[in-house]
Amino acid sequence: MPIYPDRFIDELRLRADIVDVISSYVPLTKAGANYKALCPFHREKTPSFIVSPEKQIFHCFGCGKGGNVFGFVMEYEKVSFPEAVELLARKYNMPLPESQRQKTTTKEGVSLKNLYAINSFAVNFYHKNLFSKQGRVALEYLLSRGLDIEVIKRFKLGYARDEWDEFCSLAREKKASDKLLLESGLVVASEKGGFYDRFRNRIMFPVFDNQSRVVGFGGRSLGEEQPKYLNTPDTRIFKKSNLLYGLNLARHHTDEGYFFLVEGYMDVIGLNRCGIGNVVACLGTAFGEGHIRLLSRYVRRLVLVFDPDEAGINAAVRAVRLLLPTPLSVQVLFLPEGMDPDEYVGSYGRDAFLALEPVDGFEFLMETISKEYDMSDLKQKSLFFKELFELISAIENSIIQTGYLSALAGFAGLKDYELAREFRSFQAQRRDNASLRRRVRASGNTNIGLRQGLRPKGPEAELVKLALLCPEYRGQIKDLLMPTDFEDADLLELWQSILDANFDIGRLQIGLQNGEISVRPEILSWFNEILFSEVADPEEMIYTSSKVLLDKRNARKIKILKEVIRDRSKRGEDTSELLRELDALLKKRRDRIGQNI
Ligand code: GTP
Ligand code: MN
Repeated sequence: MPIYPDRFIDELRLRADIVDVISSYVPLTKAGANYKALCPFHREKTPSFIVSPEKQIFHCFGCGKGGNVFGFVMEYEKVSFPEAVELLARKYNMPLPESQRQKTTTKEGVSLKNLYAINSFAVNFYHKNLFSKQGRVALEYLLSRGLDIEVIKRFKLGYARDEWDEFCSLAREKKASDKLLLESGLVVASEKGGFYDRFRNRIMFPVFDNQSRVVGFGGRSLGEEQPKYLNTPDTRIFKKSNLLYGLNLARHHTDEGYFFLVEGYMDVIGLNRCGIGNVVACLGTAFGEGHIRLLSRYVRRLVLVFDPDEAGINAAVRAVRLLLPTPLSVQVLFLPEGMDPDEYVGSYGRDAFLALEPVDGFEFLMETISKEYDMSDLKQKSLFFKELFELISAIENSIIQTGYLSALAGFAGLKDYELAREFRSFQAQRRDNASLRRRVRASGNTNIGLRQGLRPKGPEAELVKLALLCPEYRGQIKDLLMPTDFEDADLLELWQSILDANFDIGRLQIGLQNGEISVRPEILSWFNEILFSEVADPEEMIYTSSKVLLDKRNARKIKILKEVIRDRSKRGEDTSELLRELDALLKKRRDRIGQNI
């Protein structure tokens, strides 16, 4: 992942005015010193989305999203921090910094920019060829499969003519270096040292990344030529495990909250042709973690549409297994008569396709796995339970876990409590094993997570807020606050980052958005919200907060001291000095309370 120098980011932040950027996505109306709008990140009828030109930040009081200009672009375009930087740099005509360009250049001297450029050159070249005389067969083939010119253009489909080195020579004329040609994967070196085109006599399916740049191709043979599909090999910009065909279009069809995951290039195109845009496919590689990460940015649910043959079922089982422990919900749809999605919509149309009811991923898994066991044999049946219990224990969310157990009970004709008992004894059996110990620890953590699901509170939170809003108190608060005053680890992390950034809010926002500083969402929205607030009486606030803070500190000391004294006296050790200390602390507390009365 590219890292851009701070100076460059700061400069870009100055140029890319937040009001300017956001208003190019959402209509803003002026409201006092700020601007407001209907929040683009959740549904609402009255605007609670505020943009501050002065602070260069936005915040939604409805859904809690907030941040600076990079954060907005990340959220809106669903891109990473560096991608948001690149996007804004392009928009504001700021060339990416020199050091960056050097970094993206390998020792052989091929820059990423040139890799993108040669793919972009190739896509136009192949696309034009499709409409040439020699491309006629290919075009007719596509039309015969029901595509029309509009769809062909939307997907920028092309044709690589049946020539040995047409692309290669043309690219060389355009001054592409041999190294670039080879690294792009579009050209192959022959044993004799010559170069020839990888794609010949093939229909070309360009693959776009989520910034809609062409990064590689899938080429389908026209005749019986094997392999049926030939892909660009993995390059620095074409990593099949992190790319999905059709995602550049599907990312604009997230309203339904789900994507169809289909098997083939032609399925993506076929569904799009019939007005179903929320569809993606893997590039002839297995579905994996990279795809899950990518998809989670856009949707909460996946509907797998795989062939009902053995290969398709196995692929579906693999994918569902991978997806079960993730936050993505998964369903499976098998089309009748062994059709693939492209054929199905072609014959029955969009509405018929959308009316098909997918089955829940877990149900599908349960049924498929049960077929591997003889369920009338008790031993086999218990092995079946064991296999499913393994899957279920990998799920951290206990509500979902319980739901699956209940589904399994229903499937096996058991009562929920009977199966729950089995599950508990299964878990107990595994208790000695290291992986379980790890999971127990992890679930311990989720409890802490739940408790911490709260917004920051207490005197330390008040003081952080005061330090952020009133520069004149910063020195005093910096001296006062100690790490042990924080009950909330995330708030402490935020406070230390504030100190590291020397109260430069813009700098801090960047750290929060690019993940360098990681705190839970409640802390983030709290932070963004206080930036929009004011402190009515800072003098009063610092007085009260520091008093409460010192009292808490005292109380903590008293508690610890009491424990130590108890321990030592149990062991028969001398505690007189500690008791004196305790007395002094207790007296202090009485005095304070006395003052208050
Ligand atoms: P049509 O057969 O024209 O309908 O294309 P399709 O996209 O439906 O292809 P198919 O169902 O045969 O295969 C599904 C996907 O698997 C394809 O889109 C490719 O991504 C991949 N695939 C199929 N055959 C090959 C192959 O020979 N090599 C590679 N690398 N991938 C293949
Ligand atoms: Mn097909």
